[in-house]
Amino acid sequence: MPRKVAIFGSLGQLGVELVREFESRGWELREWDRADGDITDRGLVEQRLAEFNPDAVVNAAAHNQVDVAETEPHAAYEANALGVRNLALACRQLDAMLVHYSTDYVFDGEAGRPYTEEDRPHPLGAYAVSKLAGELYAQAYLDNPLIIRTSGVFGPGGLKTARGNFIELMLRLAASSNPIRVVEDHVASPTYAPALAGRTADLVERKAGGVFHIGGGTPVSWFNFARMIFDVAGLKPELRPTNEREYRTAARRPRFSALSNAKMEKFGLQPMPPLEAAIRSYLESRQRWLG
Ligand SMILES: NC(=O)c1ccc[n+]([C@@H]2O[C@H](COP(=O)([O-])OP(=O)(O)OC[C@H]3O[C@@H](n4cnc5c(N)ncnc54)[C@H](OP(=O)(O)O)[C@@H]3O)[C@@H](O)[C@H]2O)c1
Repeated sequence: MPRKVAIFGSLGQLGVELVREFESRGWELREWDRADGDITDRGLVEQRLAEFNPDAVVNAAAHNQVDVAETEPHAAYEANALGVRNLALACRQLDAMLVHYSTDYVFDGEAGRPYTEEDRPHPLGAYAVSKLAGELYAQAYLDNPLIIRTSGVFGPGGLKTARGNFIELMLRLAASSNPIRVVEDHVASPTYAPALAGRTADLVERKAGGVFHIGGGTPVSWFNFARMIFDVAGLKPELRPTNEREYRTAARRPRFSALSNAKMEKFGLQPMPPLEAAIRSYLESRQRWLG
């Protein structure tokens, strides 16, 4: 009998890759996004899951607009915290495994080294608080949910989402003739969505629980990430470094939020691909997406 997986947020960058990954592994699948599976609607979530009775529920849905969350903290909390509560309650009723994604932004960035699962969260803004609350709700109602914290996700699905991703932003800016300013004093570990989806399915098939960090594996400043993108794409826009002081945003962000993948690798999962290879693969897939 095929195993059954339900995916929420299926049209997001990660969601589309999860659908592809689980399908290719022979899982029976149901998928929803906001229009037909809004996770903030508790009754709907219960109904969708009761009808399908999945073995695993993967939540890739999120309110991901970090700066907007400062003016709309309720909307962020509704989706990122209470939405996860709805999913956790439904999973509990069905005895299904819950897989939920959280963020490197649960940390304050003061450690100055890649964060491990043992490090203490200290979120710096409304988005980050809402994501940490989502983790807590999953852990409050379920004995062993799988919580995967990730960082700077990019996948070709971002071509079709409202939010997009950093690579799309850089390519858009490069198409204009203006200089491009990118912060050099903030470091993350940008994560390739297809590789993250693959590691997620590996963890689900091993029935893993607890918190796992799966970042791209390469700590890099946003400035150097932009430089790599343009090098791989063969573009030469005028790229200039800036910093947090010059480039103020509504939300505070951690300065160094790269994630350590050591636990994941010790668990026997394949290391994430090198960042340059991931960018190359992204640009190739992007061409296919664009037709
Ligand atoms: N993107 C990053 O840089 C990043 C970094 C760290 C962690 N993460 C986490 O990784 C996960 C996947 O992120 P992603 O980059 O794939 O996100 P994404 O591309 O923004 O996709 C999120 C999807 O969720 C949908 N959605 C929003 N609210 C919903 C709701 N109430 N019910 C159902 N669907 C809803 C969105 O639809 P709409 O377009 O209609 O809103 C969108 O299709 C999220 O948990 C995110 O917090 C992402």
